[in-house]
Amino acid sequence: MDFTALSKIYGTPLYIYDFDVLRENFLAFKNAFAGRKALICYALKANSNLSLLKFLASLGAGADCVSIGEVRRALLAGIAPYKIIFSGVGKRDEEILEALQKGILFINLESSQEMHRVEKIAQSLQIKARVSVRVNPNIDAKTHPYISTGLHENKFGVEIEEAKAMYLYIKSSPHLEAVGIHFHIGSQLCELDPILQASQKIAKLYSSLLALGLEIKFFDVGGGLGISYEGQSTIPLYDYAQGILASLGGYEPTIICEAGRRIVGECGVFLVRVIGEKSNGQKRFVIVDGAMNDLMRPSLYQAIHQATFWGEKRGEESVCDIVGPICESGDYLAKNVLLPPCAQGDLITFANAGAYGFSMSSQYNSRPRVAEVAISAGEHKLIREREEFEELIEKELKCLL
Ligand code: LLP
Repeated sequence: MDFTALSKIYGTPLYIYDFDVLRENFLAFKNAFAGRKALICYALKANSNLSLLKFLASLGAGADCVSIGEVRRALLAGIAPYKIIFSGVGKRDEEILEALQKGILFINLESSQEMHRVEKIAQSLQIKARVSVRVNPNIDAKTHPYISTGLHENKFGVEIEEAKAMYLYIKSSPHLEAVGIHFHIGSQLCELDPILQASQKIAKLYSSLLALGLEIKFFDVGGGLGISYEGQSTIPLYDYAQGILASLGGYEPTIICEAGRRIVGECGVFLVRVIGEKSNGQKRFVIVDGAMNDLMRPSLYQAIHQATFWGEKRGEESVCDIVGPICESGDYLAKNVLLPPCAQGDLITFANAGAYGFSMSSQYNSRPRVAEVAISAGEHKLIREREEFEELIEKELKCLL
């Protein structure tokens, strides 16, 4: 990729996504489940750019959404309602109402209390709401504690016993229909074992529910497959799919996979420009125009996004931190990395930034959000304009005291 050319056309900081890699990654999921009933519901939270969603929709993707905003995005991108699921630990009544009105595939319930709210709203619409229960299997996913979700200490899902009681209630309700069962134990998982343990546990529950006469058609295995940020090995998709299918014994429900990161992560880079560098005798800092508000993962999770220098090599490499202009010591993009002497205007990229990069960005320090560009078959195209300062203040100007 010619980052110099792209930086001249679109400016920096900039997110760049390779749609050829995106296609490959999505199709790899589809192929892993080939021959079996499966729907890949891409998790929008990883990257919800509309053009990217449209592209995935054209390949047959469904959508896993965690807010009505994401449901609206999925629909706008052309994803059919019957391929959209709505998950999330705190859904508001008006979000549930709209999701039901739009006729999405099902709602993943997070608690009994939520079940009763969905029932009431379905009743007011005089419909039967399709639902699934998120079961917390109490299994350690062995990932960063902030993105681990399948333990009882986490806020997600309900215990197996409570799930059973919920399914029995749903069975007797004229306004609820149990169509699925769901679990998700965490994100950036690089070990298959915990996922399969969870799958086996939930498959057991699934089979006992079938025996009770519930007609559950969808087995939703969540997302969570990790990518190789630091050269670690990742879970082969074929093993993953086969392991899940095996955990189901002879049953053949439609598998729903809510993959996010594994589809979109490695297709993206974050491109920044060097502003300058300084050293205090002990430490060398390379200051760039991108910051934690644009790519939050290093600051929040101590995540590694491999830095690559694209400028002229003027001398020997030495250790430095690559930091942004934000007024916080936690504002860095890479720590203790080797870079040659940098000059203003040199370019640096951060790898694997397609997932949870732009989607987690903010306008902190009154920094407009950056532009996004897609590359496909050697052609580049803007898919989100850089925000302007005027947009930052627009809502305040309207009601300025
Ligand atoms: N399904 C559910 C219920 C989820 O909670 C998540 C992610 C996914 C699917 C998609 O997981 P993935 O396939 O992308 O791992 N901001 C963090 C990641 C948070 C993940 C939250 N849930 C990060 O930057 O690492």
